[in-house]
Amino acid sequence: MNIHIITAFPNLLRGPLDESIIKRSVEKKIVEFFIHDLRQYSSDKHHRVDDYPYGGGPGMILKPEPIFKCIESAIETYNITSSEIIFLTPQGKKYSQAKAKELVERENLVFLCGHYKGVDERVRDYWKMDEISIGDYVLTGGELPALVIIDSVIRLIPGVISDLDSAKTDSFYQGLLDCPYYTRPEIYREMSVPEILLSGNHAEINNWKQQEAFKLTLKARPELINDNNDNVATLDSN
Ligand code: ADE
Repeated sequence: MNIHIITAFPNLLRGPLDESIIKRSVEKKIVEFFIHDLRQYSSDKHHRVDDYPYGGGPGMILKPEPIFKCIESAIETYNITSSEIIFLTPQGKKYSQAKAKELVERENLVFLCGHYKGVDERVRDYWKMDEISIGDYVLTGGELPALVIIDSVIRLIPGVISDLDSAKTDSFYQGLLDCPYYTRPEIYREMSVPEILLSGNHAEINNWKQQEAFKLTLKARPELINDNNDNVATLDSN
């Protein structure tokens, strides 16, 4: 998978992309990152990429010129299309595990990170990008949302985490929160691991995990069950 990130703040990305599981996926040549620095596409002698909004008001706006030039150069240089560009904005569609499963099927991911108050509206009008929000709160830019999406997608690529089954049992993978987990020791500060997990009976253990996942979801996020008829059917049959 090739992952392109268009940003005015490339250094915000470098640390997280150079650690842990993401770093290993690069070393294993499963993913390759291309960071495009918007400032290199500014004709301003100070490499400015932002300006004041017409009509006044607080905050700065990313100028159209560096963004247009950067996108055009990326399309010309790499095998990507404008329809693959994802713009990160709190005004986008809410991100979810379902979207992560959709994105992991793509060969290219291309992210455009907004910053400051936003981008010149002509960028959105012209490029007609898919727009994603990672939640109903406002961050200073799209760089952290891009990292959140990249992390959640990369871990779904076979070979990235050592046991894909562990992604398949994640919270949300089947529309439910994940069950509780325990590791050694069996008793810690007088708190014991549930006996069933020590029984060696895998059918019973799986059953317990399912039930705990339902109980937890019902308590913490009941709307996940109510919004998903498959789960309601499974809940009835348990
Ligand atoms: N940029 C600023 N806030 C954001 C959010 N919540 N999601 C995506 N991009 C953003």
